[in-house]
Amino acid sequence: MTPLAILIVLAGVAILHFVWPFLAGRGGAYSTSSLRAAAWAFEKIGVKGKKVYDLGCGYGVVLALAKKMGAVPVGVELDPLRWLICALRCRCKVLLGDMFKTPLHDADVVYIFQWPSVNERLADKFAKELRPGAYVVSYMWEVPGLRLVDHNPRLRVYVYQKT
Ligand SMILES: C[S@@+](CC[C@H](N)C(=O)[O-])C[C@H]1O[C@@H](n2cnc3c(N)ncnc32)[C@H](O)[C@@H]1O
Repeated sequence: MTPLAILIVLAGVAILHFVWPFLAGRGGAYSTSSLRAAAWAFEKIGVKGKKVYDLGCGYGVVLALAKKMGAVPVGVELDPLRWLICALRCRCKVLLGDMFKTPLHDADVVYIFQWPSVNERLADKFAKELRPGAYVVSYMWEVPGLRLVDHNPRLRVYVYQKT
């Protein structure tokens, strides 16, 4: 193999590592939230002492923030490498698996940065599993079926509450 071919293969593997959940129809591809947006939402809610789930927690940036703000963080991640890095970084409960199969009955706050069609699927799960009063924070995209309690258009973050 030539160095160029090796480079192309490595680039392909790296791209696949980020996008495979989307290509496989499991959820959003990897991208990172704005920490300012997550911090704004967590401050509004007051996450101290609350159980905060990040569904599709990636490398754990948001979970680490939630922990720093005094929350009890729980991550769920489909990709094994992201799961491992997140678990090592956050030193909290991080489940390797599918967020659609993760029960959410004990969640006080659910954080998501997914994709509009994925948010629609998650909305059904929230309707069935979240307790009344639980919050959902969505970065970038809206979530149907929940009461919007706050929205920061500049930071592109939505805060909902289950009624
Ligand atoms: C846009 S990233 C968000 C990462 C992190 N939550 C953040 O906001 O910075 C979406 C993450 O969801 C993960 N993901 C996609 N589908 C999933 C599923 N069905 N179950 C668990 N994780 C999933 C991807 O692997 C990716 O790491």
